[in-house]
Amino acid sequence: MRRPSFDPELFEPLADVEERSFWFRARNRLIVSTFRRHFADARSFLEIGCGSGVVLGALRESLPSLRLVGGELYPEALEIARRRLPDTELVELDARRLPYNGEFDVVGAFDVLEHIDEDEAVLAQMVAAARPRGGMLVLVPQHPWLWSKHDEIVEHRRRYTRKELLAKAERAGIEVVEVTSFVSSLLPAMAVSRAVDRVRKRTDPIANLEPGPLNVLFERMLDGERKLIEHGVSLPFGGSLMLVGRRP
Ligand SMILES: C[S@@+](CC[C@H](N)C(=O)[O-])C[C@H]1O[C@@H](n2cnc3c(N)ncnc32)[C@H](O)[C@@H]1O
Repeated sequence: MRRPSFDPELFEPLADVEERSFWFRARNRLIVSTFRRHFADARSFLEIGCGSGVVLGALRESLPSLRLVGGELYPEALEIARRRLPDTELVELDARRLPYNGEFDVVGAFDVLEHIDEDEAVLAQMVAAARPRGGMLVLVPQHPWLWSKHDEIVEHRRRYTRKELLAKAERAGIEVVEVTSFVSSLLPAMAVSRAVDRVRKRTDPIANLEPGPLNVLFERMLDGERKLIEHGVSLPFGGSLMLVGRRP
């Protein structure tokens, strides 16, 4: 089994921008709103590859009675997550071999699968960790044509097409309920920034997420996309792809 890919040195600088960056803030609101729309009755949630706990923190704030469990490969990330969420169950684990069977109402993975060669095995493990009819929530980077040095530096194995994610989810036994792109309105800006990345010698993985002068505008644009998604629109293109599913 090949080593999973993520540079643990990125956790501290990421944790520093997560609370302020448009990208994390708008993504958190999308995850919380999707959770509420599809899994209003859920009482337990497992996040695999929870990193330093930025999504768990948002769920804790919006859904305080939900039992949260965060699983993560790197102790460096769990240390930050423990500071953020001292009362939350945080477990060192490998998503390719989850120690759970039919336990959780919902299982989620946010920007994790693209770091792992055995992504289908992880999806199958997520299904096994959920109770029958339990929910799945997955976010991944989309569009292989956006591939750039940024993906290499953050150690992505792939960017997904919608077709690829749907096929892998279905092979893992997930009944797909909803699939939509996200970060659609910023796709032209992303395409330009990735094209520049391709010709640069070096690229800073955190710089794109640093709150700049357009932070508030970008956050509003992504909030607008979330509102469309809440009204049932499936956005066809975007930097991210979200899939909602259920264990049969
Ligand atoms: C881009 S970060 C996303 C972190 C978090 N989900 C978030 O949304 O902020 C990818 C995370 O996946 C974790 N990861 C990668 N391979 C893993 C594995 N095999 N098992 C558990 N976690 C893994 C990394 O350590 C890292 O924390």
